[in-house]
Amino acid sequence: MPIFPKISLRPEVENYLKESFMNKEVVSASSKQEAERKFEALLIHLAHPPSFTTVRVNTHLASVDYVRGLLLDELQKQFSGFSVPVLQHPALPDVLLIPVTGPRRNIEKQQREVIVGAQCGNAVLRGAHVYVPGIVSASKFMKAGDVISVYSDIKGKCKKGAKEFDGTKVFLGNGISELSRKDIFNGIPALKGIGIRMTEPIYLSPSFDNVLPSYLFLQNLPSAVVAHVLNPQPGEKILDLCAAPGGSPPFLPESFDRILLDAPCSGMGQRPNMACTWTLKEVTSYQPLQRRLLNVAVKLLKPGGVLVYSTCTITLAENEEQVAWALTTFPCLQLQPQEPQIGGEGMVGAGLSQGQLKQLQRFDPSVVPLQDMDTDCLGDTKGEDMIWLANKDCIGFFIAKFLKCKSTEEKVSRK
Ligand SMILES: C[S@@+](CC[C@H](N)C(=O)[O-])C[C@H]1O[C@@H](n2cnc3c(N)ncnc32)[C@H](O)[C@@H]1O
Repeated sequence: MPIFPKISLRPEVENYLKESFMNKEVVSASSKQEAERKFEALLIHLAHPPSFTTVRVNTHLASVDYVRGLLLDELQKQFSGFSVPVLQHPALPDVLLIPVTGPRRNIEKQQREVIVGAQCGNAVLRGAHVYVPGIVSASKFMKAGDVISVYSDIKGKCKKGAKEFDGTKVFLGNGISELSRKDIFNGIPALKGIGIRMTEPIYLSPSFDNVLPSYLFLQNLPSAVVAHVLNPQPGEKILDLCAAPGGSPPFLPESFDRILLDAPCSGMGQRPNMACTWTLKEVTSYQPLQRRLLNVAVKLLKPGGVLVYSTCTITLAENEEQVAWALTTFPCLQLQPQEPQIGGEGMVGAGLSQGQLKQLQRFDPSVVPLQDMDTDCLGDTKGEDMIWLANKDCIGFFIAKFLKCKSTEEKVSRK
C-alpha cells in the first residue's frame, strides 16, 4: 500500500509523459486501461524509495566476503537489536544488497518539527541523517536533545528560518536534535554536520555517512550494471565522457576502445522523488544535448570499439528514441546484446524492432507491486526472491550498448 501520493508534476509534464507511456504501440500491445494503470503505478513508485540499498565494493582493496563481514558488524551497531541480511548479487559480483524495511506506519508524531528541503528529505528516506544545510525551518523553542518530527517540504515552499509551515509537507520520521533552533539559524555558514540524528525513520535503511569509505560506495543497482555491460579489459583505453563533477571535456585527440556515455538527463527515474517542479521545456531540453554528446562519442570511438549509453530517466525521448536516432544517424553503429541482462526490454513507440528492444535494458520499477517490508517478512523471504525484487524495484534507468563497426558493410554482414 502506498504511503505517499504519486509524484507531483506540472500538468504539462505529466501529460507529456502520459502521452508517451500510452503511445499507440503500447496501447495496441495491451489496452488503454492497462497502459494507464501502469503509468499511474510508475508515478506512485517514483515517490517511494527502492526496496534495497545497493553498495559497490572496491574489490582492488578487499574481497567482497571480507567487506560483507564488516558491513554486517556495522549494521548490527546501527540497527541495535534486529538483524538485517546483506546479500551478494549473483550476477554482479562486486554488489552487496541490504533490504530496506518500511514503511513503518505507527511512528508517533512529535510536537516539535523540523522541515527539510526535498533533496534532503529524499536522502533521509534512503537512510541519511539530516544535515544542517538541509534544514529549512525548525519549531520555535527547539533545543539540542529534543525528539523532533522531520517533514519534507516537497514543493519547496517553506521560507528559510520559518518557525512553522502549513504547506504540503510529508512526514519522514523522528530523530533527536543535535542543535538548537538558534544554533541552526544563527547565520554561521560553517555549520555543516548532522542537525537531526534520525532514530525512527519511516523507511529503515543503513546510514553510509563515513561507513567503510575506502571499501565501498553507494551506487544504484542499474549504475552497477552499466559498469559490467561496459566490460573494460586490461590495457584498453576507456573514456567516461560525462564523468562527474562535469565541466567542459578536454580536447581529446585520441580514439578509445570503450566509451561510457552516462548522459546528463531529466533524472525522472530517481527515487524517491515526490515532486518535480520542472517545466516541460526543462524536461525536454536533454534530448538535443544527448545527441551532441552521442555525436562526440561516436567520433572518439575507434572502429571495433564499444559505446554504452545510459540515463537515469524513464522518458522515451531520452532512451529508445535516442537509440533509434543513433542507429539512423551513424550507420557504423550496431546494437549489441548486454551482459548481464537484468532490466526489462526497451519500450515500444520509437520505431525499434522487437529484436532491437530485446537488446536494451529498461529498468521500470512499476513492474512489481509497491512493497511493504517488515522484519518478520525479511526472515521469511528466500534470498533468491530478494535478489529478484532488488533487480526490479530499483530506480528507473536505461542502458543501450553499441558496437562501432569497422565499415558499414561489416554492419550489414553482421545483421
Ligand atoms: C549521470 S551523470 C554521470 C556520472 C558519472 N558516470 C559518474 O559516475 O561519475 C551526468 C554527468 O554529466 C555531466 N554533464 C552535464 N552536462 C555535460 C556536458 N555538456 N558535457 C559533459 N558532461 C556533462 C554532469 O555534470 C554529470 O556529472
